[in-house]
Amino acid sequence: MFFYIIQLLSLASTVVAVSYLTCKSTPGSKDWPSDAEWAQLNLTLSGRLLKPSPPGAVCHPDQPTFNSEACPVVQAGWNTTIWHTNNPVSSVLNNVNNDTCLPEPTDPCSGEGYPIYVVNATSADDVKKGVDFAREKNIRLIVKATGHDYMGRSSAPKSLSIWTHHIKNISFQDGFTPNGCNFSDPIEGAAITIGAGEQMINIDYQAHLRNLTIVSGGGGTVGHGGYLTGAGHAALSSTYGLGADQVLEMELVTPGGDIIIINECQHTDLFWAVRGGGGSTFGVITSVTIKAFPSSTFLVATVFLGIKIGTEAYWDVATSLLGKFPALGDQGMTAYSEFVYNYTSADLNSSTPVDGFSGTFILPALHSENTTESLTATLRKVLDDVTAPYPNQFTSSISSQSYPDFYTWYLPSNGPNNAGFDAQTGSRLLDGKALTNASGLKEALKLLIPAQSPLQIYLVSGKGVHNAQPRGGGNAVNPAWRSAYVHTVVGAYWEPFDLAEKAKQEELLTNTYVEAWRKLAPDTGAYVNEADVNEPNFQQAFWGDHYPRLVSIKKAVDPTDVFWCHPCVGNEGWKVIDDVLCRV
Ligand SMILES: Cc1cc2nc3c(=O)[nH]c(=O)nc-3n(C[C@H](O)[C@H](O)[C@H](O)COP(=O)(O)OP(=O)(O)OC[C@H]3O[C@@H](n4cnc5c(N)ncnc54)[C@H](O)[C@@H]3O)c2cc1C
Ligand SMILES: *[C@@H]1O[C@H](CO)[C@@H](O)[C@H](O)[C@H]1NC(C)=O
Ligand SMILES: *[C@@H]1O[C@H](CO)[C@@H](O)[C@H](O)[C@H]1NC(C)=O
Ligand SMILES: *[C@@H]1O[C@H](CO)[C@@H](O)[C@H](O)[C@H]1NC(C)=O
Ligand SMILES: *[C@@H]1O[C@H](CO)[C@@H](O)[C@H](O)[C@H]1NC(C)=O
Ligand SMILES: *[C@@H]1O[C@H](CO)[C@@H](O)[C@H](O)[C@H]1NC(C)=O
Ligand SMILES: *[C@@H]1O[C@H](CO)[C@@H](O)[C@H](O)[C@H]1NC(C)=O
Ligand SMILES: *[C@@H]1O[C@H](CO)[C@@H](O)[C@H](O)[C@H]1NC(C)=O
Ligand SMILES: *[C@@H]1O[C@H](CO)[C@@H](O)[C@H](O)[C@H]1NC(C)=O
Ligand SMILES: *[C@@H]1O[C@H](CO)[C@@H](O)[C@H](O)[C@H]1NC(C)=O
Ligand SMILES: *[C@@H]1O[C@H](CO)[C@@H](O)[C@H](O)[C@H]1NC(C)=O
Ligand SMILES: *[C@@H]1O[C@H](CO)[C@@H](O)[C@H](O)[C@H]1NC(C)=O
Repeated sequence: MFFYIIQLLSLASTVVAVSYLTCKSTPGSKDWPSDAEWAQLNLTLSGRLLKPSPPGAVCHPDQPTFNSEACPVVQAGWNTTIWHTNNPVSSVLNNVNNDTCLPEPTDPCSGEGYPIYVVNATSADDVKKGVDFAREKNIRLIVKATGHDYMGRSSAPKSLSIWTHHIKNISFQDGFTPNGCNFSDPIEGAAITIGAGEQMINIDYQAHLRNLTIVSGGGGTVGHGGYLTGAGHAALSSTYGLGADQVLEMELVTPGGDIIIINECQHTDLFWAVRGGGGSTFGVITSVTIKAFPSSTFLVATVFLGIKIGTEAYWDVATSLLGKFPALGDQGMTAYSEFVYNYTSADLNSSTPVDGFSGTFILPALHSENTTESLTATLRKVLDDVTAPYPNQFTSSISSQSYPDFYTWYLPSNGPNNAGFDAQTGSRLLDGKALTNASGLKEALKLLIPAQSPLQIYLVSGKGVHNAQPRGGGNAVNPAWRSAYVHTVVGAYWEPFDLAEKAKQEELLTNTYVEAWRKLAPDTGAYVNEADVNEPNFQQAFWGDHYPRLVSIKKAVDPTDVFWCHPCVGNEGWKVIDDVLCRV
């Protein structure tokens, strides 16, 4: 909201303002490279430089790339995440490209919200050439792996983009010695080295073939780069820790253009910072080596609880149910769950509307005691306990299933995989104190469940995250994760081009919905990868006490801000004014 207003107000004065501010170069400015210089870059990249037209342009008769046969194909793909990940410049959310060329002939198509040039990288060397060019020519630089980012950090107008999608490679090792480490024995266990362009579902599949499991994000098309630079929560994070906690080593192209290997023995500051300090800030990761675990039987329970709409008991039961989550997380259980309001569902056999709760509870069976029966019994006791004060008012069901491994469950269940709409996310991490503050929690739920139904409650932190021992003695992940249990997500939605509605919904998101969670959990923070782009004091919210060290590492590795994004570490001192990035 705040930034949005600034942009609108600044429009009138832009022409004047930009001419005396120090800005990144833009087409038309004196320092923008000539066509010959771009052609020279392309030559050094063996032809891997792209100048893509906006992908929706094929649907617009006034555009040079209009193509009535290609248009329906683009339209058919537009609502799926996979389509956007396979395109050099497209993003999962329309508003990340500022709705500047949707695949609808009646909508405007300027393409102004997309980068201009793209390095279609297949190696660290390609990445280096792109980074060097952007640094030497003062060009705004971005990194796109998949374009899933909810805050638009993987796109920018008037920029050069490093597209990592085609940096593919997965290799496995049993035991791993990080480069430059003088260890008498390798780090025990399986290690997987992954190119920056790989996406979750393929890594999961390759691991599954070897009876291994990784700490995988929920969406199969999510990329590893953005995921583990932000933290990375997963169905197995309550047991094994966050995605960032699994990293053993990375190959990184620095803002200065060096290709380096970072781990607990060399470049230890960067190794600490990149694991949690955010994407496209400290350089471009070209490959990463992570831990993998032996596969185990995977237990999954589907839980449903409902009560006649408008029943007062609902609020107390919802509140005490969340109060049970810390104990479940302490057992290594994960849940993707939601509170629903005035809800009917054929799947759940509720044809009359209910206020309710539905969730998928997950436990890897690492002990012989862990069976579908024990999982059902544990959850049954939770439901019975919380509904006991209100006999015969609630209906509930629990059905537990056993899968041979994580992947067997994940393949048909991964998601969400829908795309192609306008939205903004907001979120908060909730610790035990917030989840057991009955009066405060009830107040928040009474506001949020009706407004946000289904209200997303992810139990994705527990003993694995709290007791994690990242290599090198720690990482930059928001310290709030280490005491949180729940990551709760709220959203704002609007129709494209309705700028008034957009402003209204974003304002509500920041100042009413996320604010209700902030009030309940003032000392925690939020998960940078699934957060409100307008989060006030984002530095504190996303990185807490780690922020000062992160900024000093950013300044050391990138003194001239080759990489800049928002909301990202060390981005103070620059502002986007009418699509141009300027020092202020
Ligand atoms: C459908 C969906 C499901 C999701 N599920 C989960 C989940 O289960 N758990 C979870 O933790 N998060 C989840 N997320 C959030 C996800 O972690 C973020 O969207 C993340 O930013 C995606 O990373 P990416 O590389 O795929 O995306 P991109 O949008 O391409 O990149 C995201 C950010 O990382 C940077 N980046 C990407 N690759 C590199 C690299 N190689 N080097 C340096 N910087 C890089 C980009 O510049 C950008 O800043 C989900 C998101 C969506 C849309
Ligand atoms: C780069 O060169 C290749 C051929 O070598 C060409 O196909 C491509 O269009 C060029 N890219 C740009 C941006 O001109
Ligand atoms: C894609 O989603 C939009 C809005 O979310 C909808 O209007 C459109 O019909 C969908 N397109 C397809 C092909 O499903
Ligand atoms: C997005 O587009 C609108 C016009 O639809 C424009 O007013 C606004 O400045 C643009 N925002 C950005 C961030 O470019
Ligand atoms: C990018 O490079 C890959 C690998 O060489 C190639 O298969 C793909 O077609 C290229 N993409 C574009 C849009 O040129
Ligand atoms: C994949 O990585 C392995 C191990 O680093 C390497 O030996 C192999 O050459 C790589 N393959 C490709 C296609 O880059
Ligand atoms: C490796 O460590 C051993 C024992 O700590 C030491 O004797 C040896 O000199 C070290 N080697 C290098 C190359 O540092
Ligand atoms: C995976 O486990 C199964 C069942 O235990 C076994 O039959 C198979 O050989 C294993 N595969 C590999 C690649 O280890
Ligand atoms: C529940 O939803 C129905 C259908 O959308 C609506 O008519 C009704 O007013 C809602 N009831 C409440 C209490 O919100
Ligand atoms: C819904 O009802 C059908 C038929 O009675 C039953 O088979 C199914 O298991 C029920 N589903 C749930 C979630 O209770
Ligand atoms: C799983 O096993 C552990 C260790 O035996 C036990 O403490 C825990 O209660 C079990 N949980 C479930 C749901 O079976
Ligand atoms: C509970 O939450 C409310 C905010 O809704 C806060 O004012 C209160 O201090 C909290 N109580 C405790 C014990 O933390």
